[in-house]
Order: sequence, then C-alpha cells, then structure tokens
Amino acid sequence: MKIAVGADHAGVRLKDGIISVIKDLGHDVVDLGCNCTESVDYPDYAVPVAEMVASGEADRGVLICGTGIGMSIAANKVPGVRCALVHDLFSAKATREHNDTNVLAMGERVIGPGLAEEIARVWLSTEFSQGERHIGRLGKVSDVEHKYHPAP
Ligand code: RB5
Repeated sequence: MKIAVGADHAGVRLKDGIISVIKDLGHDVVDLGCNCTESVDYPDYAVPVAEMVASGEADRGVLICGTGIGMSIAANKVPGVRCALVHDLFSAKATREHNDTNVLAMGERVIGPGLAEEIARVWLSTEFSQGERHIGRLGKVSDVEHKYHPAP
C-alpha cells in the first residue's frame, strides 16, 4: 500500500518511527511533513493527507499531532475519509475491522513511541471484516456525507 503521513510540530518526533514501521511492513511512504519543531497549524498537514486518501492517490494515511484530536477533526472533514483517533491496541484492531478506517490519528503528547508504533503496525495489518452489519453502518455514514456534500 501507499501510506501518506503527516505531523505538526507537536507530533513530528513520532513521525520517523511510524515511517520505519510502515516501511518495515513493506509499504511505500509519502511524507507530507512537517519536518520542523516551530509551531505550525495541524489542518495544513491533515488535509493534504486526507485528500490523498480520499482521491485514491494513497491507500491510507497516518496523522500525528499533540493529542491527535485536531488532526482527526480536520481529516474527517474531507468526504470519503474515515479517520480514527487511536491510543490503544484494541481500538487499532477494532476500528479497521468495524469502521474500515482509512486514516489513523495519534497524539505524541498522549502516548509514547513504543505504543504508537505498535498501534500503527496493528492498524496497518488488520483487514476490514466485510461484515454485513458494518457495511450497512458505513453506508449510513456515507449517506450523511452525501446529504451535506451533494455530488455537483
Ligand atoms: C499544538 O499545540 C496542539 O494544539 C496540536 O498539536 C494538537 O494537539 C491539536 O489538536
């Protein structure tokens, strides 16, 4: 898979470790920054990653900020993106199986690098369950998107 990765200044320290995990799993990485510790704005990194995933240019995305919250809010504004904020291994697996999430958000100020890397590994390695009930629920989520973002 091709995985787009983005971080703000409060998430940049985790980014290299996450990129190593992605490469270790045999995937390709598109690093959309940032590469600085000066203050930047998380939407400037969340939206390009989310748009790459929504357009199909990337298969999945991983976003890191201080809490992961700003990144997940911004990414979920892009139609077609299902971004999960995850800080535990159970949710990393469940959100792939149940929600078919295509973007993962984490907070560098919330968890350490060991757990973050393991979450990324589990999330990237877990398939959507294809369960009928989950497909139906995701259809209802898409209906909401279409309601507020009707096709031109
Ligand atoms: C930056 O200070 C911080 O607000 C940001 O990284 C993130 O946690 C926002 O949700």
